[in-house]
Formats: sequence, C-alpha cells, structure tokens
Amino acid sequence: MTKSGLFLTFEGIDGSGKSSQARMLAEHLRGQGRDVVLTREPGGSPGAEEIRSLVLEGDPDRWSAETEILLFTAARRDHLERTIEPALADGKVVICDRFADSTRMYQGLSRGDLRGVVDQLHSLMIRREPDLTLLIDMDPEIGLSRAKGRQGTEERFEDFGLDLQQQMRAGFLALADEFSDRFRVIDGNRDMDSVAQDVTDIVLQALR
Ligand code: TYD
Repeated sequence: MTKSGLFLTFEGIDGSGKSSQARMLAEHLRGQGRDVVLTREPGGSPGAEEIRSLVLEGDPDRWSAETEILLFTAARRDHLERTIEPALADGKVVICDRFADSTRMYQGLSRGDLRGVVDQLHSLMIRREPDLTLLIDMDPEIGLSRAKGRQGTEERFEDFGLDLQQQMRAGFLALADEFSDRFRVIDGNRDMDSVAQDVTDIVLQALR
C-alpha cells in the first residue's frame, strides 16, 4: 500500500492573513507530531524561487499576460515535482500558501479574460488539485491596508487598487462555488485566533 499525505492550500486576496494562518496551522500540526511541509507559491523549490523573483520583482510590464501564465505554471511544475509530490508520497501533510487557484484568479482575471488559457495549461502540465483549499475571505479595504503596511520589493499585485481587489474577492468566492467539493470559506474579518480556530477544526476533520 502506498502512503499518501494530505495536500492543503490557502487562498485569498493580498493581505487576507492566509500566510500567517498557514504558518500557525503548520505549527499546530507539528505540535501534534505530524510531518508537515509548509511551502508557498510562486516558489517552494529552488528553481521556482528563481522564477518567483522574475515575476514579482522588476518591471512587471516586461512580461505579456500569456508569458506570465507560462512563468507561474513553470514555477508550479517545478514545485510539484521537487517538493509537493515527494512529500505527499512520504505521507506528509503539505500546506501551500497559494496554488493554481491564484493563477485562475490573478492571471485569469486581471489582464483580460484568460481563465481558459490558465485552465488549459493547468490540465496539460499540472493536473493535480489540492485535497482541501481554505479560502480566507476578507474585505479588500482591510486587506489592502494590511498589504500596503508591509515593506518589500514584491509590489507587483499589491498595487492593484481597491476595484481589482473587490473583483478578486468575488472571483475567489465564485471559485469556491465552482470547486465546492474541496473549498472551505473562512471569514477572515476577525481576530487571528478565531480564524485559526476555524482553520484547525476544518483541517483536523479532514485528517480524520
Ligand atoms: P504572496 O507571496 O502569497 O503574497 P501575499 O502574502 O501578499 O498574498 O503572493 C505574491 C503575489 O503573487 C500575490 O500578489 C499573488 C501573486 N500570484 C499570482 O499572480 N499568480 C499565482 O499563480 C500565484 C501563486 C501568486
């Protein structure tokens, strides 16, 4: 019998607090003695981290929308081969901060309607979907002020402005309906501990 782990992803708009939630969940599960790999996209393997700097730093307009989809998908393919699949084959819990749903939203919606291209490339090169996706749903005005409060060189998508963030929020909620078998929506407009409690409850149930 082959072991197979659990593949969990966090999604949400910029500043939704999903990265903190992913970290807290990883700590909680490790505290229970589980083998956890905490990872992120774009990135999560040495090659994919190199691609991360290409897409998130420097002049964003040097990539066309289509090239950008290819770069995010290339990063994902490397991450899947080198990090995610080996860990799952070892029976580990993989917690990933963003995955293909982010490409469906950001590349699929923000520079025209490219969702069809994103999906085609996904079915060709990635195929795998998470076992469970936690959408941290949050008011973009709060999310944006949190995201802007952070320093850093990765400005690309946080410069979107409120309108596009509203569109992203609606898009993520629609995606949760579309893939209702694996999505759980969590109200992120609360203190971190309350959100974390919901996250833990849902994940522990999935692990049972
Ligand atoms: P991330 O590091 O998760 O930023 P944050 O913590 O602010 O959410 O992601 C970096 C940016 O990359 C984020 O603005 C979303 C974007 N992104 C895409 O556009 N497409 C993708 O496929 C992924 C994974 C991320």
